[in-house]
Amino acid sequence: MHGISSGLIHPVTGPYHPEPSGMHVDMVSSESSSSAYPQDVQEHMVELREAIRRHDHLYHVLGQPEISDSAYDTLFRTLQDLEARYPALITPDSPTRRIGGAPLEQFSKVAHERPLLSLDSIVAMDEVYAFDKRVRKELATDHIEYAVEPKYDGLSVELVYDAGLFVRGATRGDGKTGEDITGNLRTIRSLPPRLALAPPVPQHVVVRGEVYMRLPDFYALNRRLTEQGNKTFANPRNAASGSLRQLDSRITASRQLALTCYDLMLSSGPLPPTHGDAIVVLETWGLPVPAYRQVCRDIDEVMAFHHLMLQQREDLPFEMDGIVVKINARVEQQRLGEKSRSPRWAVALKFTARMECTQVKDIVVSVGRTGTLTPIALLTPVDVGGVTISRASLHNMDEIARKDIRVGDSVKVERAGDVIPDIVERIPIPGERRADPFAIPDYCPMCQSAVVKEGSLHYCTGHTVCSAQLKGGVEHFASKHALNIEGLGEKTVARLVEAGLVKDLSGIYSVSREHIVSLEGFAEKSATQLHAAIEQSKQPSLERFLLGLGIRHVGVHVARILATQFGSLETLMTATRDSLVDIHDIGPEIAQSVVHFFAEPRNLGVLESMKALGVTVQDVPHETNTRAMSLSGKIFVFTGSLERWSRRTISQRIAELGGKVTSSVSKQTHYVVVGKEPGSKLEDAKRLGIAILDEEQLTALVGGTTT
Ligand code: IVH
Repeated sequence: MHGISSGLIHPVTGPYHPEPSGMHVDMVSSESSSSAYPQDVQEHMVELREAIRRHDHLYHVLGQPEISDSAYDTLFRTLQDLEARYPALITPDSPTRRIGGAPLEQFSKVAHERPLLSLDSIVAMDEVYAFDKRVRKELATDHIEYAVEPKYDGLSVELVYDAGLFVRGATRGDGKTGEDITGNLRTIRSLPPRLALAPPVPQHVVVRGEVYMRLPDFYALNRRLTEQGNKTFANPRNAASGSLRQLDSRITASRQLALTCYDLMLSSGPLPPTHGDAIVVLETWGLPVPAYRQVCRDIDEVMAFHHLMLQQREDLPFEMDGIVVKINARVEQQRLGEKSRSPRWAVALKFTARMECTQVKDIVVSVGRTGTLTPIALLTPVDVGGVTISRASLHNMDEIARKDIRVGDSVKVERAGDVIPDIVERIPIPGERRADPFAIPDYCPMCQSAVVKEGSLHYCTGHTVCSAQLKGGVEHFASKHALNIEGLGEKTVARLVEAGLVKDLSGIYSVSREHIVSLEGFAEKSATQLHAAIEQSKQPSLERFLLGLGIRHVGVHVARILATQFGSLETLMTATRDSLVDIHDIGPEIAQSVVHFFAEPRNLGVLESMKALGVTVQDVPHETNTRAMSLSGKIFVFTGSLERWSRRTISQRIAELGGKVTSSVSKQTHYVVVGKEPGSKLEDAKRLGIAILDEEQLTALVGGTTT
């Protein structure tokens, strides 16, 4: 099926990932004729693909990016645009294929060419020495080299490359048959769609690796899922597996998955003599390989590596559940052979689980800076892997219900990839009498404001009066992008709040110079300066003021839209949910949040007090309002890269002004914006007589600033 031949692909000239010249013509199919596909377009596409692959490798495999995200986006979009115009010129290994395709009905099954074995696990140290002893005896030698690597906690995959191209990928399944997840694997940034051809790549190569999710990406994904009201993943392994086994590869593409390759399983060319050499070969082909790895001269060095990894475990950005110990020399591996499900030349040396049992003494609610109510289990203190755990987040009510955790329950607690402990599950005790299920209070425990539920989260509506939110709220209000009150940072805010001088946001404006002098760390001069800065902030723009209020979901962008759309605070305060949702870029969540904010009597009280203390929020001048919609209905197309603007920012700005950005030039297009190294769209624009703008003219049109 793969046309295995023992021949090697010979490298062609060019620096990295060159496109073999013949292959390209093969792929563009018989429909292509030179007149239909101008030579320069084809060349440009080849160049773009090469550049994108090179930057993917620099960023995702080597971790050494050379260009900005926006410059990368520009390359990517340009290629996408060209492929949209010339679909017959799309190659299966094009980086654009990464964004995922139409959903599948189901995964098809694939038989692995070689079984994907699993590993015998050992935990106790004496078992390690026993393994070493057995192996030395069987091989009748005293000197054995071991290759060691972390045991990544993810999902094992098989990757097949033919003629250097990634053609198929599958899950491990039962070891003999897996599921074809080629499309999903293509979305992984560190997976090269094409191998670097030097050193020569054999015609047919099968590589095994692990797809996993890094901890920061795991936390970010769970945060996003929570915000969207969706279920979260219990650990990075489930997140990786759930993301990779999606029938809709666009979902996989939206998840940050990582890959590491640890086995050259099969090759139509010669196999390197040792495992260590094989990893180096994989690495030079451009595949990601374990960054932490070592070739050990004896079992003591293996133990030292194990010790080192165990120490570093908490600091590494990914989860590993042990190390894998492999005999380095291939001939020795072959002599030892395999059992039915696992090799006799390798073992997984697992770390002991960082899990203990304890009891839930109480469940309390903590109120975060943005008003989120989080249920927290107070535990009978227990030592988990050297750290005493006495509290664990229960995340939200859905999690509590799923795990059915109540006060008094016995539970298993675990420290996952970092120090934040987690309750894994309840341990049912036969005959136990359990407390009632926990319920989130209807009123905030800190300020008694109403609590509202959104998705699986609960929020306190008392934004500006809730003491738990007060410090964070005041800090945010005074911050650079909001009211920009110099000198009102974290420490000073804490002192003002703790001294009882600021009880809600309006309190900032009733603080006198004398009050400030009385605070620790202030002298006459610094107090005068801070007081003056507060006074100077009394005429904020509507945009900054709205941002400063800390309304949930109202960041810089939304505050700007609300300000230009409504013009004054009074008008916005009476806006209905429907009128808000009608605005471009304002979704139901934002609308709901704004309406809630202005419906809460305490928030209205704070706004009243501010007004009484001399704060006058500036209406948006009429001409800005007019300019706000100055691009109403205008359609823009970009070609080439811009220097001052990222595509994203400029597209947002155009949308705010009522315009739209599309990808291809047509008679409907009003402006074609030409940056550096423009593509064929410039010609299209000229041909159709469409207005052409350079970056400067564009900047003037949208109001002149890149922020
Ligand atoms: S080698 C024949 N190396 O651990 C040897 N496996 O049960 C094949 N794993 O399913 C495996 N990190 O998914 C190997 N550095 C590593 C690994 C690793 C994680 C996983 C793999 C396998 C499981 C063992």
